Amino acid sequence: MSTTILAIESSCDETAAAVVTDGRTIKSNVIYSQIDLHKLYGGVVPEIASRKHVEKINDVIQEALEQAETTLDDIDAIAVTYGPGLVGALLVGVSAAKSIAYAKNKPLVGVNHIEGHIAANYIEHEDLKPPFMCMVASGGHSHLVYVKSYTEFEIVGKTRDDAAGEAFDKIARAIDLGYPGGPKIDKLAKEGNPEAFNFPRAYMPDAPYDFSFSGLKSAVLNHLNSCEMKNIEINKADIAASFQQAVVDVLTDNTINAAKAYGCDKIALAGGVASNSSLKENMALKAEKNNLMFYHPSPIYCTDNAAMIGVAGYHDFITGERAGWDLNAVPNLKIGERAF
Ligand code: KG4
Ligand code: ZN
Repeated sequence: MSTTILAIESSCDETAAAVVTDGRTIKSNVIYSQIDLHKLYGGVVPEIASRKHVEKINDVIQEALEQAETTLDDIDAIAVTYGPGLVGALLVGVSAAKSIAYAKNKPLVGVNHIEGHIAANYIEHEDLKPPFMCMVASGGHSHLVYVKSYTEFEIVGKTRDDAAGEAFDKIARAIDLGYPGGPKIDKLAKEGNPEAFNFPRAYMPDAPYDFSFSGLKSAVLNHLNSCEMKNIEINKADIAASFQQAVVDVLTDNTINAAKAYGCDKIALAGGVASNSSLKENMALKAEKNNLMFYHPSPIYCTDNAAMIGVAGYHDFITGERAGWDLNAVPNLKIGERAF
């Protein structure tokens, strides 16, 4: 017998719902992106995000059910992101999920957003099974995670300051590329020389799998300031390429080293930054050199979506996890933590 999950995601600026069967088959994946609204402000405005989620969530859920050619009666459980994320944004999805689960008398499962990003890898790779080492790099989070099983995780390394995506967004803003910066830097970097500038790579001897992007960010900003003061024309493509290479070097080296230390034969990427073309190319090369299998989701499953929540929710559901009617948003929920 198959298990069909209705999944809901509203942790940041995407209002999303999906119908997922048996943790691998995506019947529908509807995403309403608010990016155009937040672009005007150069980043996500939490209050605006919450209001837009309230406006859109019912339509998005309805659309996900219709595209999957199903109804709430045929759904086995409702899975919803309850953290980490923006509290007001999370509460919209949590409230919608609770209402449906209560009205239809269906089980409710609370899903960790980062565990969702990791689970996105299972959608297109049937051969991928834990254990493996996963680099989760998104706008709000950067973690190196040892995935012990579908529902057990160990944080091996994390960022000391900015998340990788945040660094992309800040540098993009500094060179007037707009928001979100990741995809724009990715595109412009293709026209630049990644060796034009030797921006710093932070490797921390006391915590070899942690990373830090503040020194890199300052170095790029200092370079821009000094060019401006000396009236030197800046080459945005070279800056984008050199900055990106510095981020990619650290993310790939740390992932490979951690995989070897933990005896993994598989590595994976997750989160918005996982759609970065240079990161994927460099990781593929280093993985091959080190005899590691390398997995990453398609771009549509890298950035925020509800399909990944349906996959993670399925594994939580079959291990017996159930949220109560008191399920709340937990903005700083940790990987592997359960707050219900
Ligand atoms: O996972 P995500 O959609 O949201 C969070 O959970 O934070 O990630 C969004 C982040 C943004 O910072 C965006 O700039 C970055 O992912 N991103 C990229 C690329 N596409 C999205 N960063 C680098 N290269 C890309 N191609
Ligand atoms: Zn995310």
